[in-house]
Amino acid sequence: MRVLSGVQPSGTLHIGNYFGAIRQFIELQNEHECYYFLADLHALTTVRDPDRMRALVRELAAGYLALGLDPERSVIYRQADMPEIPELTWYLSTVTSMGLLQRCHSFKDKVAQGVVPNHGLFTYPVLMAADILIVRSDLVPVGKDQKQHLEVTRDIAASFHATYGVEVFTLPEPLIRDDVAVIPGVDGQKMSKSYGNTIDIFGPEKPIRKRIMSLVTDSTPVEDPKPKEGNALYQLLKIFAPAEDREWVERAFVEGGVGYGDMKKRLFEYFLATFGQARARYDELMADPAEVDRILLAGADRARETVAPLMDDVRRAVGIR
Ligand code: TRP
Repeated sequence: MRVLSGVQPSGTLHIGNYFGAIRQFIELQNEHECYYFLADLHALTTVRDPDRMRALVRELAAGYLALGLDPERSVIYRQADMPEIPELTWYLSTVTSMGLLQRCHSFKDKVAQGVVPNHGLFTYPVLMAADILIVRSDLVPVGKDQKQHLEVTRDIAASFHATYGVEVFTLPEPLIRDDVAVIPGVDGQKMSKSYGNTIDIFGPEKPIRKRIMSLVTDSTPVEDPKPKEGNALYQLLKIFAPAEDREWVERAFVEGGVGYGDMKKRLFEYFLATFGQARARYDELMADPAEVDRILLAGADRARETVAPLMDDVRRAVGIR
């Protein structure tokens, strides 16, 4: 199977990103032909500072590589290095109805929030359809919030086929896992950049430690048993504790005698044990931007080979060739 997914460089990687998506991307590499790209053209609909844009792309690439996306096994590239993608976007946009895009939640939500929509935001799902269709991907691992975009992608492909009477695209299926744990943020809500409650994976230890120590807890005294239900600290400890410490975590909550402060210190140690290697690799990559650029350009070269026959079919279908 051919797998494709894209991630917008629009913020710093946090542990919710890892357990919610990146870990799955890494696992999929073992069984499938995977294409993973940085959706920098998409990010332009919101990121307006060019220096920040460059930094976000570099950080995201270094983060993904450090966590285990492997350029030997997967094709890893930057969307903007593939001009075929905006080219395909245009062909697709001519067979996409306005109504289809007007029905997209992502667009409607932004407008409801009072964002003055630009055309890029409106046409965002067409660019996404081009990302997906251009490599003839079978499976697209995404979060639930992207399900509609996959339906739109299939609709657009079908509309192209109906318009030109040739079947050039593969209709992709979303891969949406509902068994992935919702990672709580430091305030107990779902961890999300937009809630400002994230725990970053990379960057200096001190602010991360501080962040973990700021996790919201109740006022149960040290010696008492602690509630597990709805307790973000408990959920995070369960996720991070190594097998031999799971007992300890259970007992700490059920029997009492361990304060929340000590539990948080443990959590920070587990965090470092889990991500220590990736964090070291990240620092190396960030110190060697030329290496990151080389990997991304090599990925784009490989992706270009994959998309060439499809682009040929599409250009012929529409009569440009
Ligand atoms: N829209 C996706 C998001 O915000 C990112 C994305 C862009 C994407 N193109 C894609 C995801 C293609 C999967 C496939 O999460």
